[in-house]
Amino acid sequence: MNISFLLLRDFRNYRHLELTLKPGVSLFFGRNASGKTNLLEACYYLSSLNSVRAERDYDLARWGTPGFSVGCRVDHNGSAKTIKVQVRVEPALRRKITVEDVAVRRSDLVRVLPSVYFSPDDLYMVKRGSALRRKFLDSLLGRIDPEYSRQLTRYQDAVSRRNSVLKKIRMGSEWRTTLEPLDCILVESGSVVLAKRLAAMPDLRREVSETYRFISGRPCDVVYAASIGESLQEDHTVRDIARQFEERLASLREEETVRGMTLSGPHRDDIVLRLDGKAIRYFGSQGEQRSAALALKMAESKMLEAVFGRHPVLLLDDVFSELDEERRNRVLSLCDFGHQILMTSTDPIKSMVPRVAEFLVGGGTVEPCGEGLRRE
Ligand SMILES: Nc1ncnc2c1ncn2[C@@H]1O[C@H](COP(=O)(O)OP(=O)(O)O)[C@@H](O)[C@H]1O
Ligand SMILES: [Mg+2]
Repeated sequence: MNISFLLLRDFRNYRHLELTLKPGVSLFFGRNASGKTNLLEACYYLSSLNSVRAERDYDLARWGTPGFSVGCRVDHNGSAKTIKVQVRVEPALRRKITVEDVAVRRSDLVRVLPSVYFSPDDLYMVKRGSALRRKFLDSLLGRIDPEYSRQLTRYQDAVSRRNSVLKKIRMGSEWRTTLEPLDCILVESGSVVLAKRLAAMPDLRREVSETYRFISGRPCDVVYAASIGESLQEDHTVRDIARQFEERLASLREEETVRGMTLSGPHRDDIVLRLDGKAIRYFGSQGEQRSAALALKMAESKMLEAVFGRHPVLLLDDVFSELDEERRNRVLSLCDFGHQILMTSTDPIKSMVPRVAEFLVGGGTVEPCGEGLRRE
């Protein structure tokens, strides 16, 4: 599967851009702040309606404009589909999403155009606290399963409302009765979220381990660390989980009212990456941490591929120059498996990449500058 045509109108620094793309590797190079990331961001937006960095669609509209549109043509197995997303951000957010001019939902986009965005910041997923790892999991499972997103939103809403009630109780108000309905939602949605995460673990573990081995020759392990209790098994049902969650809530009741926050549940969980039983986060070398980050993203691609039956487009933002030659070759070999790779760099790196279409990015334009010849 590949994007063969891309259209941006008033998206970030692009007033109007039409770009024809080929399968295989395309490299976008240009100075800092020339609009390279913006280009990959547009592709990711077309696949998920999420931005790789902006919180709100408002930031995606070219400054001073009331909205933007992005579109692309996706070729797959000899047939083509056109995705169009028109967004008005002023005075209020309004989106119109179509595939082949038929209105669709956000969750339909990933079926047509699965994509994975790689950035140097992926390293933080491995090095830092649990929030970025949960975000990784939530973003992946949310695209695979819209019900996951619905339950997660409901759960997160319950957590924040519950936290404000707990804070009021800490201040001495008699709010205990308002806690009960929130506890119900917390357990109900939290258990579904947790069950879906646990059910995904065997696939995630296998894919991360395989891709880690592919990159560096050794397997690595991934375990889910649940805050509601260590005895949780990956084959536990929603009902098993709900019972355990309720018990945990009851045992934490006093502490939660003292601290004024919800202390246990999927929003406090983690996925731990290990090499030889030791957490890569604490004991891994920089190279091992980088490989683990790459393995997580490649596992994301494999899992999307398994569900949607097509190779995701890989969006490599500034990551290539950071990799050593071995890892570069590993990543590039993916396009031989059928992935289209769109990558950015501040330098033309033709010499590093045997077959590549190069584009120069700058001043809101993107110009093809000749195609690399196959290296003998
Ligand atoms: N909404 C927007 N409207 C117009 N320009 C924008 C908008 N958002 C970001 N930019 C501009 O885009 C440029 C950054 O583009 P980016 O793709 O991040 O650059 P890089 O080539 O370094 O990846 C900056 O100059 C920024 O001012
Ligand atoms: Mg950039």
